[in-house]
Amino acid sequence: KIPHILVVGSIMMDLVASTKRAPREGETIIGMKFTTAPGGKGSNQAVQCARLGAEVAMVGKVGRDGFGKTLLETASAAGVDVSRVLTDPAEATGVAHITLEVSENDAKNRITVCPGANFTLTVEEIAWLKARVADYDLVMLQLELPMEVVESVAAWAYEAGVPVMLNPAPAAALSDTLLGHVTYLSPNEHEATLMSGQQIAVGNGINREDMHRAARYFMQRGVKNLIVTLGANGSVCVNQNGTVYTPSVHMDKIIDTTAAGDSFVAAFCTGLTAGLDERQALAFASHTAAITVSRMGAMPSLPTITEVKALIVEKGCRGID
Ligand code: RIB
Ligand code: NA
Repeated sequence: KIPHILVVGSIMMDLVASTKRAPREGETIIGMKFTTAPGGKGSNQAVQCARLGAEVAMVGKVGRDGFGKTLLETASAAGVDVSRVLTDPAEATGVAHITLEVSENDAKNRITVCPGANFTLTVEEIAWLKARVADYDLVMLQLELPMEVVESVAAWAYEAGVPVMLNPAPAAALSDTLLGHVTYLSPNEHEATLMSGQQIAVGNGINREDMHRAARYFMQRGVKNLIVTLGANGSVCVNQNGTVYTPSVHMDKIIDTTAAGDSFVAAFCTGLTAGLDERQALAFASHTAAITVSRMGAMPSLPTITEVKALIVEKGCRGID
């Protein structure tokens, strides 16, 4: 079955400074290199779904500039339908300013997002979606658009009976109404900590007690399915059926983890709507994100279905090949 996925989300150009160490306050350092790469949580997720074989439509907004043009061309080349992406006449295309701290086998990022045109998208501009959302198997949302846009789309999808994946990134306070309209909520450990007020220890291995406390917070607020991504520690999926721990897939060299979360949630959604069960979709997502962290840049690093299948065979994972 070919999944039909709608992504209503952000579109950003990533400006990446690679350095051996990030500067301190008031300090200037000499970096290693500068790269630009298409990114944005919304467009990353859309492109990842498309590269995995889904039919994907994207709704969002860019500026009338070169970054916007490149971003739409890249998404379109991956097979994403960008015909409903709007262009703001005045605001610039969103930009993510990334400092990538590179060590021998690892890389850590710090990201400042300047939303530009993404934040001028209004509910009125996408009101047509209310009547069309039922055309899709699943809707993907993140938090790099105005909150009322996210809330409206989630409400329309809920009313139409279409499952919603909300990747609550960057972390923000969410209303109970929004949480009630969401089928899957997928924060990473930092976002889950910020939003729940329950510290989730980051380190080697999963602190099950921490996870349990955070999960209880989200469940009490009406979240049906919680998926917390934990970087190298894998992911934890909690719902009324119980808890599923999925390990990450080991890669020898971590080059750039930017878009790993996007890659993971997009693969999970594509797998699920293509007919995988939850456990299989989580394992498929782990393999997909593993490739993403082993390559530079956001969108350029998102793998195709052929690459993911090859890794699944290489790692000997059964059931999802
Ligand atoms: O999730 C990664 C993305 O977040 C980057 O591509 C950057 O654009 C930021 O929006
Ligand atoms: Na990457």
